[in-house]
Amino acid sequence: MQSERESLFIVNNFARDYFQNILKNHVDGRSIGMAYFRNRGFRDDIIEKFQLGYCTESHDAMAQEAIKKGFKKEYLVKTGLCYETDDHRLRDRFWGRVIFPVHTLSGKVVAFGGRVLSSATKGIKVKYVNSPESEIYHKSNELYGIYFAKQAIVKQDRCFLVEGYTDVISMHQSGVENVVASSGTALTPGQIKLIHRFTNNITVLYDGDVAGIKASLRGIDMLLEEGMNIKVCLLPDGEDPDSFARKHNATEFQKFIQDNETDFIRFKTNLLLEDAGKDPIKRAELISNLVQSISIIPEAIIRDVYIKECSQLLRVEDKLLVSEVAKRREAQA
Ligand code: CTP
Ligand code: MN
Ligand code: MN
Ligand code: MN
Ligand code: MN
Repeated sequence: MQSERESLFIVNNFARDYFQNILKNHVDGRSIGMAYFRNRGFRDDIIEKFQLGYCTESHDAMAQEAIKKGFKKEYLVKTGLCYETDDHRLRDRFWGRVIFPVHTLSGKVVAFGGRVLSSATKGIKVKYVNSPESEIYHKSNELYGIYFAKQAIVKQDRCFLVEGYTDVISMHQSGVENVVASSGTALTPGQIKLIHRFTNNITVLYDGDVAGIKASLRGIDMLLEEGMNIKVCLLPDGEDPDSFARKHNATEFQKFIQDNETDFIRFKTNLLLEDAGKDPIKRAELISNLVQSISIIPEAIIRDVYIKECSQLLRVEDKLLVSEVAKRREAQA
């Protein structure tokens, strides 16, 4: 007897194969889905590797095929591949979208992301639709791309963290394989632990706009707490790793990162300093914010290095920072 989990995986495998087959062989798959990926510059081998697919505009073609093949409606709904309308009809969640399967560390398909094809539907349809949580999919414990990245992460002893599906794929295509995506949300402790199994070193590659960076600062504090070494690399304004990787080869990309990556605490200090200007209250808040970040770092030696550096950047006595960090650590203990 199959467990429910096994059944859900089998349904997902069917859907992955189905979407892939439509992309490669169906007339709409080729003229719409494949054309979209080619237009973005994705190579065939990369489309194959990431098992990308297409779901046609028909609202229930996948559902009908699945039912015909004997898959139970119950599992189609539980995986989120389909949903039931008020009049009890089965609809495809991903109709009219290109498909990005989401793999676990061991390569099982736990979820899908679907992207609209044209910006014309923007506003009518959201850009990405993702599988809902299910018995086999807990979003907070998965990272897009980890299955394809794990060996390269170990080999390079570093993991790049990006925002989206296409960032991961484009970087692979340009030869940078040690990359995973948090899929648009802040990192979770589960995702951090997953990366930490393979490396201590993480470089966050943000889109070149400041709003997103500030929102993510909190997530990064969790990485410090895990005792990881974090660097941040800001891309040029308006670029994300995907658009940047398409304009530069792997060597140029790596060089850009080398030249532009900053240690996280230094990055945060400078960012907050810019913000605070000369305002004494804001500067005090800034110091307390940094003290908080430093105080959660597990290793004393690393805390010490940061304290020295911050005291220079902020022009405050390092003794003051030492005692503030100590106080904070006592309060946390
Ligand atoms: N995302 C999502 N739902 C949305 C928007 C974004 O789940 N409505 C997630 C996706 O995983 C997406 C990531 O957040 O890949 C980053 O979003 P964004 O930068 O807007 O998209 P890109 O990945 O850059 O996609 P594209 O280049 O195709 O526009
Ligand atoms: Mn470690
Ligand atoms: Mn973005
Ligand atoms: Mn993006
Ligand atoms: Mn993009």
